Order: sequence, then structure tokens, then C-alpha cells
Amino acid sequence: MSTRRIVLATTNPGKIAELRRLLPPCIEVVSAGELGLSLPPETGETFAENALIKARAAARASGLVALADDSGLEVDALGGRPGVHSARYAGEHASDEENVQRLLAELASVSPERRTARFRAVIALVHPDGQEALAEGVVEGTIVDRPQGQSGFGYDPIFRPLGHDRTFAEMTTDEKNRLSHRARALEHAVVILDQWLRCSTSDTGLRGEHRGPDESPATSPAT
Ligand code: IMP
Repeated sequence: MSTRRIVLATTNPGKIAELRRLLPPCIEVVSAGELGLSLPPETGETFAENALIKARAAARASGLVALADDSGLEVDALGGRPGVHSARYAGEHASDEENVQRLLAELASVSPERRTARFRAVIALVHPDGQEALAEGVVEGTIVDRPQGQSGFGYDPIFRPLGHDRTFAEMTTDEKNRLSHRARALEHAVVILDQWLRCSTSDTGLRGEHRGPDESPATSPAT
């Protein structure tokens, strides 16, 4: 079976490694950086818009099927914030720790049962022939009252997934990857890639949102 190339519209080495591990072996992943592509800024108001902005630019510039993702944390007591602003919640160059501290300060007076939240990831796939598809993954949970655990990144130390008694930062990478919003979105995306590239090695039975070149954008997920 011949290998099909796709371009990953990200410069994040962690995401590139994760995708190389999770995609079927008949799909060869090259990153935007390896092709010398520069990506546009994320100016969208939803995860889907941001993922599409990056994937469209990479598909246009490379002539390859492009995959991009965008993700973040939605806290119910904050009306869905930080959402698309998760990476820079405490300021343009804020550290993970500063973002976590801002979130905890805002939730200081919120009772445990009202601290519900979810991580959401949206993957956009763009074919150079104009087809576009969105795949989404969500993991529900709660925000604990102080950071717990050392692994992971971002909001992992304060996010405890539903049905578990540890935060993401107290889990191994494998444990987190089995539950994570990104892994769930990728399961859907792999099904679509199987269809587009015709090199299926498995079918999970899951389906992502899918639309053709002339249809208007699919409904964006809440942010
Ligand atoms: P992006 O998808 O790389 O733009 O991620 C946006 C931001 O959302 C990250 O910088 C983190 O703050 C947060 N985030 C997304 N996914 C996760 C996760 O799995 N754990 C912790 N934080 C995350």
C-alpha cells in the first residue's frame, strides 16, 4: 500500500509526535515547519474557526490534505471562559501557572458542585480539492480548588475528569490520552482521513461532521 502525505498545520512538536503515533501507518505526517509554511494568526471566535483558518492556509500552500486542531477549557460558572482564550487567559505571554492561578481566583467563591467544566478539541481537515470536515472531542470534568499533580501541561493540574478521582496531571500520559478531548477528536478525524485517502487500517465506527466544498461551514462548537 502506498503512503499518503498529509500536512499538520501546527508548529507544536508535542502535537506532531502524538499525531504520528495515532494515525494509521499508511499516512505520512509532515509538519508545516518541515515544509517551510508559515501559519496565519488564530483570529477566530470559535475552536472550529481557528482550526479551519490554519488548515485552509496549509492546504492552499502545500497542495496536500491539511489537519489542524484548536482546543481549550470551558468553565460553566464563567460562561464558557477561557474557551478560545485558554492559552493566553492571564495575558498575551502568560505561563500555564499564571493562567491556572487566574482561573482559580475567579472560582474562589464557587461551590464544588458548580465547578463543572470541559476540555474541547476541534480538528479541521481541508482537502486541496475544496472538501472540508470538522471532528470534535469533549471530556467533561470539574475544576478542583488547588493544583494537583506534575504531569501534562496547561490546566491539567486543576482538571479532574468525570468518574475519576485524580486530575489529568496526576495521570500518566497514556491514561490521559485514552480520555482526552484531542484523542476523541482524532478518532473521528481518522475515519474521515480513511475515506479521503483510501488507506484505511481500521474503522472505529465513529463519524465526524462532514461537508462538501460548496456547503456553508458546519455549526461551530460552543466556546
Ligand atoms: P491549543 O490547542 O494548543 O491552542 O491549546 C490551547 C490552550 O488550551 C492550551 O495552551 C492550554 O492552556 C489549554 N489546553 C488545551 N488542551 C489541554 C489539555 O489537554 N490539558 C491542559 N490544557 C489544555
